[in-house]
Amino acid sequence: MSETTRTQVVIVGAGPAGLMISQMLANRGVDSVAIDIRTREEIENTHRAGILEAQAIKMMDAENVSDRYKTDGYEHDGTIIRVNGVSHRINFKELVGESVWLYPQTDVFIDLANARQKAQGDVRFGVSDVEVVDPYSDNPGVKFVDADGNAQEVRGDFLVGSDGSRSICRFLIPEEGRTQFFREYPFAWFGIMAEAPMSADELIYATNERGFALISQRTESIQRMYLQCNPSDDMYQWSEDQLWEEFQSRLEGSDGFQLKTGKIFERTLLPFRSFVQEPMQHGRIVLAGDAAHTVPPTGARGLNLALSDARALGERLAAAAKGNDVSKLDGYQEAALKRIWRAQNFSYWMTTMMHSLPDENPYDYKRRQGELEMVLGHKSGQTHLAEAYSGWPNEEDGL
Ligand code: PHB
Repeated sequence: MSETTRTQVVIVGAGPAGLMISQMLANRGVDSVAIDIRTREEIENTHRAGILEAQAIKMMDAENVSDRYKTDGYEHDGTIIRVNGVSHRINFKELVGESVWLYPQTDVFIDLANARQKAQGDVRFGVSDVEVVDPYSDNPGVKFVDADGNAQEVRGDFLVGSDGSRSICRFLIPEEGRTQFFREYPFAWFGIMAEAPMSADELIYATNERGFALISQRTESIQRMYLQCNPSDDMYQWSEDQLWEEFQSRLEGSDGFQLKTGKIFERTLLPFRSFVQEPMQHGRIVLAGDAAHTVPPTGARGLNLALSDARALGERLAAAAKGNDVSKLDGYQEAALKRIWRAQNFSYWMTTMMHSLPDENPYDYKRRQGELEMVLGHKSGQTHLAEAYSGWPNEEDGL
């Protein structure tokens, strides 16, 4: 026999999207139960992107999540785009009046998990054998085995699929009515974590004939960096010296910029994929975050998009749950998808503009240089980049 819990909203996936939605619902007086197959420790130890756009920061405040970003994060008023050894600064503050925060996804997750715990929210990590039951009925739910090995069933009036890029919930949208849009890229990022001092005050997105590199940061003494590589390259075999040499070679310039190096303590390969599934709603089932879309990491849109989905959904889902009225979800996907496709374009654009293709011919290379010059050499181009990177205003999208 399983234990049955009744709630208003069942949330499958307790990463940033799912937890932010449960926080928004709680702030509006609506109960939810969130489950995740990963343990809290597993999620906390998965390194993901590190930049929060202005709207995401405002949301952390507005939804009473935490203000730890103010002490543990770093506000960046701009970013550096370095092309063939020449740095160009995009000044977000000056161009669009916004800034971004270097505040890693794992910290956002920790803050959300703590906020839910403090409010005695029902979040169950480390569950297994998850099965969605009666998804098309008036009381959709999930069956699973909890972390203590007990069979559980949770039923609600609505079900949120925020179960990440390996989503099972996305397949609840009936096949005949769903479309999946894909793009693959012929390269990947090799990411490292290193014990080293910061090499710059802001992030450096660098590109030259050897390819792309991103110099990001975590703290004064821990740095996060990425190298463009071939998905089949065995970069795990590279020595630390070889990796540092390759990073430095992609940054080399007449200004004498010198990367600060140190012990490399983690290595990961990040595949590049763009993906959107439409629609994001079917009756009482809604999708949010990576379950519905993925972007390549250039431009750090992934977490920001998950949070903007929550922004588009939270208020509407609370109203829908309070009145048990599906029509209150109207407008969710329209608002979310507008931003999702903009971000798809931005991530694709930043990626293709800054990475060399394995078979890039001299024409393609020169054209790409022209594009970079057009963006970096003109205020209109810089503004376009600054707006997209720091996040578009909410009002525009009916979020
Ligand atoms: C990161 O710090 O991990 C990061 C930052 C910016 C990106 C991607 C990743 O565009």
